[in-house]
Amino acid sequence: MKKMLSGITATGNLTIGNYLGAIKQFIEYQKNNKMYVFIADLHGITVPIEAETLSNNIRNIAALYLACGLNPQKTTIFVQSDVAAHANLAHIILCATTIGELSRMTQYKDKSSKQKKNNNTSFIPTGILTYPTLMVADILLYNPDLIPVGQDQKQHVELARNVAERFNNRYGKIFTIPEFITPKIGTKIMALKDPAKKMSKSDKNTKNTIFLLEDPAAAKKKILQSLTDNENKVYYDLENKPGVSNLMNIMASVDDISLQEITDKYKDLGYREFKNDLGDIIAKLLTKIQTQYNQIINSQKLDKILEQGANEARIVADKQMAIVKEAVGLTYKQKNA
Ligand code: TYM
Repeated sequence: MKKMLSGITATGNLTIGNYLGAIKQFIEYQKNNKMYVFIADLHGITVPIEAETLSNNIRNIAALYLACGLNPQKTTIFVQSDVAAHANLAHIILCATTIGELSRMTQYKDKSSKQKKNNNTSFIPTGILTYPTLMVADILLYNPDLIPVGQDQKQHVELARNVAERFNNRYGKIFTIPEFITPKIGTKIMALKDPAKKMSKSDKNTKNTIFLLEDPAAAKKKILQSLTDNENKVYYDLENKPGVSNLMNIMASVDDISLQEITDKYKDLGYREFKNDLGDIIAKLLTKIQTQYNQIINSQKLDKILEQGANEARIVADKQMAIVKEAVGLTYKQKNA
């Protein structure tokens, strides 16, 4: 049994990218491992966001975790800001990193250039730069062995490894060195109209994205209208057929089948049949998730689960925080008092 930890940032409506790259893994791993899964609300304020939107997002993500099958009896589900140690440790981690190290992060480069382009402003929130230090703190507080995430988070997990090693070399063995783990298929779901870029919850063009809470019929339409090519033959070729390959990845991942099985099934059929079937598969998945979600979203049970999760998480995080404080010298009590 391994200890695992992961989270999702509360910046928007979750997409099938979040589901296939992250949540679906959590559901699988919780069977035989101890998982800590949280809603990264503190990460949500690293870019400007309305207060009401943020708090709705937090609740939505929590309800979606449960709707997708996370089991609070097995998995500790909590909200990041409910556990004060996250922000505390983040400051200590921040002081153990360099500006060079943080500004080399791909997501920092992407997000800061988007901020300039989309909002036509030179206002770059410091939070975009320091974001990974908070993520490193999230991870190192729980000494997890594995971090199940999509491909785009690999660099941040590597930073967590580097910082953990740096700390351990200086202060003795404090942190477990975590490993990145990602699904073979579904680790990077691409935008439907622009398969060169990642499907993202913050994409301005909503035709690129399938949201877990959108109308299933509208989601199917997006699949039917997704960008492919003129060949009308279903086979996997990421370089030359990125659109079809992305749709194949989605189908394989949702239905747990291989790319070869898909190629064989559609060998004598064209894109219309393939897209139509995938549209149905997605609509079915969304309907199933949304049925569960609607039963949970307004329930008090949700609040109780998050409260219980925060209590569980605090026990682990506070203990680790005390060890870190002691190691770095943030103590003043007489040793033998
Ligand atoms: P976030 O909120 O951007 O994404 C949440 C999870 O979804 C995965 N993901 C995708 N997977 C496949 N295809 C896509 N198109 C796609 N888009 C997103 C992400 O890889 C991620 O696993 N910083 C993190 C949240 C976080 C965290 C942590 C994760 C905060 N602290 C500690 C792990 C451990 C983030 O913003 O993910």
